[in-house]
Amino acid sequence: AKYTRVEKDRCIVCGACVAIAPDVYEYDDEGYAGVIFGGDDNRGVTAIDEEFLDDLLDAEDGCPTLAVKLSDTPFS
Ligand code: F3S
Repeated sequence: AKYTRVEKDRCIVCGACVAIAPDVYEYDDEGYAGVIFGGDDNRGVTAIDEEFLDDLLDAEDGCPTLAVKLSDTPFS
């Protein structure tokens, strides 16, 4: 399984992750990207469905500030 979260202090709102994987990433009330999948609320503890794997990798590659993080285990 893959887990993901956004390091919000690194996010410059370039929008790549939200454009690439809108089912996984969305802007929060302050305008920064975060993980919304399965109600994760950017905790990084929700296993992302396999169908979005390529999108996760593209979002990681596409983020200019390396704010999009992926992991094989849940973030704590
Ligand atoms: Fe922010 Fe990177 Fe997404 S800058 S909007 S986390 S692609």
